[in-house]
Amino acid sequence: MEVAVYYFTFTGNSKRVAEIIGKALNCRIFEIRSFKLPYIIWLLLSFIPLLEIPAKFEKVTKDAIIICFPKWTFNCPPVTYFMRRMNAKKIGLVITYGGFDEKRYAEFYKGMAKKKAKDVEYLLIKKDAIDEEKIVGWLKGFLQF
Ligand SMILES: Cc1cc2nc3c(=O)[nH]c(=O)nc-3n(C[C@H](O)[C@H](O)[C@H](O)COP(=O)(O)O)c2cc1C
Repeated sequence: MEVAVYYFTFTGNSKRVAEIIGKALNCRIFEIRSFKLPYIIWLLLSFIPLLEIPAKFEKVTKDAIIICFPKWTFNCPPVTYFMRRMNAKKIGLVITYGGFDEKRYAEFYKGMAKKKAKDVEYLLIKKDAIDEEKIVGWLKGFLQF
């Protein structure tokens, strides 16, 4: 199954993770680009569940995709926008977080991804513990290579 990697980032951690994955899979990585807003505005918006903020991205054409993005309060609006506008058979969610409430957030996005794909799994990565081996190990299990 062909794979593509997408990422949204505000401070660069999810990009770093996407680059690790792109290198491990030898596949292209695509940025989900949205407005350049100040932290405080994103923080306020992240409290609104299911809010979508427009983003630009390359059309999803692969059967399997990995989406790397940050844990934001209740919602990451550009990622929610993206998720509502893509389709794939297999979706991997790789979420970087600071240190709290990550499991509930991952389950929330898993539920959203399940509306698009049968096969959905996630990996949570603490931002100060981005471990290449752990990421590759998870990918091997998820994509079975
Ligand atoms: C608007 C906003 C909200 C955040 N909310 C949370 C949170 O609820 N829980 C948490 O553990 N980290 C939270 N963080 C920290 C990020 O999840 C963490 O720094 C992440 O690695 C950032 O990824 P990025 O560098 O790809 O943007 C938040 C960061 C931002 C900017």
